[in-house]
Amino acid sequence: MEKPVRLDKFLADAGAGTRSEVKKYIQKGQVQVNGKLVKKPELKITEEDQVVMNGQEIHAAPEYVYYLFNKPAGCVSATEDSRDKTVLDYIEEKDRRKGLFPVGRLDKDTEGFLLITDDGPLAHELLSPKKHVDKTYYAKVSGKVTEEDAARLAEGVDIGEKDLTRPARLEILSTWESGTESAEAGNNWESEIRLTIHEGKFHQVKRMMEALGKKVTYLKRLSMGPLALPSDLSTGKYRPLTEKELELLKSAGNS
Ligand code: URA
Repeated sequence: MEKPVRLDKFLADAGAGTRSEVKKYIQKGQVQVNGKLVKKPELKITEEDQVVMNGQEIHAAPEYVYYLFNKPAGCVSATEDSRDKTVLDYIEEKDRRKGLFPVGRLDKDTEGFLLITDDGPLAHELLSPKKHVDKTYYAKVSGKVTEEDAARLAEGVDIGEKDLTRPARLEILSTWESGTESAEAGNNWESEIRLTIHEGKFHQVKRMMEALGKKVTYLKRLSMGPLALPSDLSTGKYRPLTEKELELLKSAGNS
């Protein structure tokens, strides 16, 4: 809170109620500033002032908010959409603020780690191609993923862009021969992989696997930079970043 703000705005921004609700609370004598009852919604408040409503201290709204969201499939990485649910539809009313948006995009069918914030400058840093913030994905793939594929991904593959992809790290978690013949004749292998990339081009992981003749059938982002999807955060749920997590993320954006 850099400049003084009206008491009713301070309370509404802090989540104490809507602007008209908090005006009523003030007029009914439910609000004290620095220990004194005040009945003027227009009173100017600064950081120095202590505001108490119904016996509870009210703290100024933070400048920015940061939510770590476990995106479900079927949700689009946008703030508005006429057909599909957007990430904002998963944010509870009390936590919604003007200017919230997802940092980067996951495809509609991709699940997992997505940061939602209203901090434009940090998002810009994290998405900057110059920063190369790592992103790690778990994928199920039809086809037999091999160490040769890992070597090719480490070198960079052609996904139809001007340059080859930047070196990526592939870990083969498992690969097995399934009972049923799938897409391509003779190819009834399936694999599970973990792939770490340093870019974020449209459909990047899917296109990288396609370049190796494999098809991604399930995709989930596990981590972004220093932060990983917490194992106790179910799909479709979000929680605020802890201070420590935010610090880590900021240093990834600044490095
Ligand atoms: N790569 C993809 O192909 N899709 C995503 O959603 C993210 C990375």
